[in-house]
Amino acid sequence: MRVPVALAESMGQDFQNLIARFCHEQELIQDPSELTSNRFIERSVVPHVRKLSDLFNRKKGDAQKDEQKAITQVRYWKDSTNPKNLRLAYFIYFMPANAFRIAGIWSELHRLGFRFSSESKFKAIELGAGPATGACGVALGEKFSPLGLSATTDWALIERDRAMLQLGEAWTQQFFPFSSFDQWTHRGFHREIDFAEELVPKGSPKFNLWISSYFLNELENDPAAQADRLLKTWDRHLERDGLVILSEPALKDQSRRLLELRRELIDGIKKKKCPGLQILLPCLGMQNCGALAAAEDWCHEEVSWWRPPYTKLIDEKAGLDRKTLPFSYLVLTRSSRALEEILPGLKAGASASRHRLVSPSHYEGRDSEFFICGQDGKRRARLRLQDDQEVERGSILEGVEYRGDTKATRIDRLDRIV
Ligand SMILES: C[S@@+](CC[C@H](N)C(=O)[O-])C[C@H]1O[C@@H](n2cnc3c(N)ncnc32)[C@H](O)[C@@H]1O
Repeated sequence: MRVPVALAESMGQDFQNLIARFCHEQELIQDPSELTSNRFIERSVVPHVRKLSDLFNRKKGDAQKDEQKAITQVRYWKDSTNPKNLRLAYFIYFMPANAFRIAGIWSELHRLGFRFSSESKFKAIELGAGPATGACGVALGEKFSPLGLSATTDWALIERDRAMLQLGEAWTQQFFPFSSFDQWTHRGFHREIDFAEELVPKGSPKFNLWISSYFLNELENDPAAQADRLLKTWDRHLERDGLVILSEPALKDQSRRLLELRRELIDGIKKKKCPGLQILLPCLGMQNCGALAAAEDWCHEEVSWWRPPYTKLIDEKAGLDRKTLPFSYLVLTRSSRALEEILPGLKAGASASRHRLVSPSHYEGRDSEFFICGQDGKRRARLRLQDDQEVERGSILEGVEYRGDTKATRIDRLDRIV
C-alpha cells in the first residue's frame, strides 16, 4: 500500500514530543525524557511490549500460558501485575502503529477518489477503541489524504476498560488539534460490547463512519453471528454514503476470520439485510474471496512508515521490527452508486479485467511474478513490465488480458496500473 510521503513521515519528532508530554501529564512517566531513556524503556516498557506482542500473536510461552488459553477470555488490561506500565507500553508502541494502519486505509480511499459528499456535522463511532486509536488514525489520514470528513465530527468511543478509555479521551483532546481538527469532539462510553445484544442502544443516531481496529478478533462469536449483528446494526445506524472500516491483524487465523466475515456479510447483503451496503476495499467488489478458496491461504496488506523515533529503541531492545506494518482490512459503504462512481480513480466498466496484487512482486528473469486477485479468484501471474512501470502489493491492474491457469498465468496486456 502506497501512502503519501508526508503521511509516512508524520510520526516524527513533533509527534514524539507530543506523546512524551502527554504521557508525562497523564503520570504514565515521571519525565518526558523517559520515552528515550535506555534504562526506562528496557525495564518498564520492553517486558510489556514483549508480553503484549506474544499475546496478540498468540505465541505460547510460559509467562503467557494462561493468557494464551484464548485472547477472547483474558482481560489483559486488568490482569497485569503492573497495569499502568502495560497501558503505557500499548499506548506508546501499539497505538501509533494501529493508528497508522487506519491512516493508510484512509489514504488508499483517497488515492482511489473516495470523497464524502456532505460537509455537515458528522458522527463517527469506534468500537473497542482502546486509546481512541482508530479515531486518531482517521485524523492522521484526513490531514494528509483528505476525504472531506466534516470539520465538526463527533466521535463516540466505546471501550470496556475504563482506564484505557479515559486515556483515549484525553489523547483525542491533544491529537485532534495536533492534526488540525480543533472542532472534532468525542464522547466516551464505558461499555462491554456483546454481539448477542444490540451493539449500540436503539436510540443511538445514524453514524457516517464506523471504525474498529484490532477489535473483532478478540470476540468469541463466529463470523456468521458477527455479520448478522453488524448488518442489523448498520441497517439502523449507518448513514447513507457512510463508511465502515475494519482493520484486523495480518495473522493467518485472524485474517481468515475477517475473510469469513466478508463472505457472511455478502451473504446477508444479498438477502437485503442492509440495503445499499457494498464492499469497496481491498477487493473492489463483492466477488467470492480468492484467498478463502484454499484452506491455508489468507490475505493481508502492508504499509511502510517512518516509525516514531523512540519506537526504534523499543524495537531494538524487544527484538521486534516495525518498519513495515502488516494488517488485514475491509472497507464498506452504504450507497446506491456504482463502485466506479464511489471510487472514480477506477476505470468504469473495467471490473471484469481488474485485479489487485495481493503479494509482493519479485523478478523471475525479466518478468515480474506475483499473485493477483480479481472477479475470477486468485492466480499466480507473470508480467513483463515496461521501463516506466512498477508494481507492489496493493497495486491495481486494469484492462488485464491473460492466458494460462491459476497456477501459471501470463499477462499479455493491460491498460494501466493504478
Ligand atoms: C487490541 S486492543 C485494540 C485497541 C484499539 N482499537 C487499537 O487499535 O489500538 C482491543 C481493545 O478492545 C477492547 N475490547 C475487547 N473486547 C471488548 C468488548 N467486548 N467490548 C468493549 N471493548 C472490548 C479491549 O479492552 C481493548 O482495548
